[in-house]
Amino acid sequence: MFYKLTKDCTPKQLEDAGLAPHYVAHDHAIFYTDASGNPFTATYIQAKGDPIADLYEDIAAEEKARATYQWLIDLTDDVDLQDSLKFLREREVIHSQRFREAVDILKFERDRKQVF
Ligand SMILES: [Fe+2]
Repeated sequence: MFYKLTKDCTPKQLEDAGLAPHYVAHDHAIFYTDASGNPFTATYIQAKGDPIADLYEDIAAEEKARATYQWLIDLTDDVDLQDSLKFLREREVIHSQRFREAVDILKFERDRKQVF
């Protein structure tokens, strides 16, 4: 999405959009950062090794992604972009629901084993 929105932009258009630092460092290349410009690192990925704990971490990530998509929708009046973002937002809702179902299954199995 970022590539499609910026691939034909001039340096001046990127500068006007607040993307001059990105252009200077990466030209039109995609470079993964958060909204503050911090590069993506593997430290964002959490794994405790306990399936239930890890699924709750995944649920939190999905909910944060859902909220981020909503805030991106709020920032644009481009209807086509809003449609794409709404699809991605709904996808995160489904991911969250599937992870919640997996937690329920694991908790049921954990509790069943504790009974016997
Ligand atoms: Fe997701």
